[in-house]
Amino acid sequence: MGKNILTLTDHRTGETYELPITNGTINAMDLRKIKTHADDFGLMSYDPGFKNTAACKSKITFIDGEKGILRYRGYPIEQIAEKCSYLETASLLVNGELPTKSELGEWTWNITHHTLLHENIKKFIEGFRYDAHPMGILISTVAALSTFYPEAKNIMDAESRLLQTYRLIAKIPSIAACAYRHRMGLPYVYPDNDLSYTGNFLNMLFKMTRPKYEPDPVLEKAMDVLFILHADHEQNCSASVMRGVGSSHADPFCATAGAAAALYGPLHGGANEQVLRMLNEIGCKDNVPAYIKRVKDGGVLLMGFGHRVYKNYDPRAKIIKQIADKVFEVTGRNFLLDIALELEKIALEDEYFIKRKLYPNVDFYSGIIYQAMGFPVELYPVLFAIGRTSGWIAQWQEMLLDPQQKIARPRQIYLGEEYRDCIPVEKAGDPTEA
Ligand code: CMC
Repeated sequence: MGKNILTLTDHRTGETYELPITNGTINAMDLRKIKTHADDFGLMSYDPGFKNTAACKSKITFIDGEKGILRYRGYPIEQIAEKCSYLETASLLVNGELPTKSELGEWTWNITHHTLLHENIKKFIEGFRYDAHPMGILISTVAALSTFYPEAKNIMDAESRLLQTYRLIAKIPSIAACAYRHRMGLPYVYPDNDLSYTGNFLNMLFKMTRPKYEPDPVLEKAMDVLFILHADHEQNCSASVMRGVGSSHADPFCATAGAAAALYGPLHGGANEQVLRMLNEIGCKDNVPAYIKRVKDGGVLLMGFGHRVYKNYDPRAKIIKQIADKVFEVTGRNFLLDIALELEKIALEDEYFIKRKLYPNVDFYSGIIYQAMGFPVELYPVLFAIGRTSGWIAQWQEMLLDPQQKIARPRQIYLGEEYRDCIPVEKAGDPTEA
């Protein structure tokens, strides 16, 4: 192993530069020393979509995309999904270690006792149209929480951060449930503190006239594991937005609303909804080859396939496939699964997908389970957002406490007009009048 130094020669000037390599990266600011003359701004790197730029150092989530490995704080996702609850996972992500029994008890108690929404929030939600997309409701209502808790601005106060953490993890399922019930024209259901985090969420969604809702244990466990699988995924689009908004020292409710907005897009967390729409459009197994052809011709994307980081099977998709079997034992088999399995089979054997290393991602099978459990398709990205909230908070807090972090502010390559004088409209000629 040689020295951790990169030697660069700038052939414009013939100068040679030595840049230190740390953690497999060079410091982008070192490039600025590379200049053609004293007034030159210095070299920058160009990386739209941040395909090869590390924007932070993190200790939260590790992904090896080539090998299909995902770990939260060092623990393999497969073990966490099997041995932990979602709230344990959330505590692990936010606090760095798995909680002890008493720590978990306190964490759970605090989250359970912040699930109630201010009554005005419900009035706020009532203002939405009956067919408003629940993700739009979630995004705006989470932003509105900032007005209910103005002390959340004290982002450098650890106690305040913890309180907002409890509130966010606790209230997002309550908002999601209200968004759903609003859409269905059903009265909102108050949280039931006797139930687990996930059991209570199902209660707030599905309770009808019986005085006590009892969640099916298989479905409750499946939903909890789905929350775990969605909890964090290092510097994805929404986590980057969370860090970006948070870097201006906005409060965590506004930052979470921004992150949720990023998640909503069909290339990110909105993909689960689009997968279901795609499977419905395909309609039956026999139509799969024709759909694959459309994908290869560039007409449509195979939703739920491909990933910026994974160039192998997404480990979360593997676990979700196993959950599907358990859920279907309770709900009955979703016929869309056959179409999905056929799509996967054909795609994994096809040169187009093999060459581009396109595999099923977390969103490919999750929607089929959600549908079997009775969730309307528009709610799928909201379910993703509930699980991801703990990850967003962990990323936000890590960013705030990192002394190397600054306000997010990328550079650009300006290719617009050079200097020109502004001519008042009355003096400028109008080509359309000619
Ligand atoms: N269907 C067909 N072709 C695809 C797909 C797909 N789903 N994904 C990527 N490709 C092709 C793409 O057209 C490109 O081909 P070419 O080299 O000929 O131009 C090549 O594969 C590389 O794709 P890319 O767009 O450069 O890759 P990216 O890293 O910028 O995008 C992605 C990653 C997830 C946005 C993309 O794979 C995609 O749009 N997938 C479908 C949407 C989806 O399932 N999103 C959920 C992601 S996982 C959950 C989450 O984190 O939100």
